[in-house]
Amino acid sequence: MHNNLEKIILNEEQIAAKVKEAAAWLDNKFKDAQYTPIAICVLKGSVFFFCDVTRAMQTPVHLDFMRVSSYGNSSKSSGMPHIIMDLSYSVQDRDVILIEDIVDSGYTLSKMKELMLGRGAKSFTVVTLLNKPSRRKLPVKADFSCFEVANEFVVGYGLDYAEQYRNLPYIGVLKREIYETDK
Ligand code: IMP
Ligand code: MG
Repeated sequence: MHNNLEKIILNEEQIAAKVKEAAAWLDNKFKDAQYTPIAICVLKGSVFFFCDVTRAMQTPVHLDFMRVSSYGNSSKSSGMPHIIMDLSYSVQDRDVILIEDIVDSGYTLSKMKELMLGRGAKSFTVVTLLNKPSRRKLPVKADFSCFEVANEFVVGYGLDYAEQYRNLPYIGVLKREIYETDK
């Protein structure tokens, strides 16, 4: 385990098992889709989850990427997500599958939903790796959530603190002193 972590909460096997479930859920939901859905990766946090879920799906999907930021280098959401990099395809009349790392305050999800429906998406489905309901500021919910986490700052498998820890293969809780000394 990385020295700056307090504990590991999800290991590689647990993540892999849920990735399969998420992919099967999406396959079932889109098995009769008339047109190929677009899976959207919200960079950078969902990068590994996105790759693993889309590769585990049987249904053909198009892949697109977007970068939305709300944190800067802190551990608290600013509440104002902004687009740093936009999609390369139009989502008009398309089934959109948003693949998220974590739904925390809900600001990012809410903004993405408004944006995609505003651009004419036919449907909007959200799959998230983690859900932290205790911190919700807006009444939004993912359609499929792999794991619920407590009110702790977690890193690994894509999730970062100040760009660190993303490439850990597991998810763990960051020691409080690591982010509290940064304030
Ligand atoms: P939101 O607060 O629901 O808008 O989530 C915004 C983003 O904050 C997520 O997509 C993550 O990138 C990041 N985030 C929220 N909670 C955590 C955490 O515990 N660890 C790492 N990143 C987090
Ligand atoms: Mg982040």
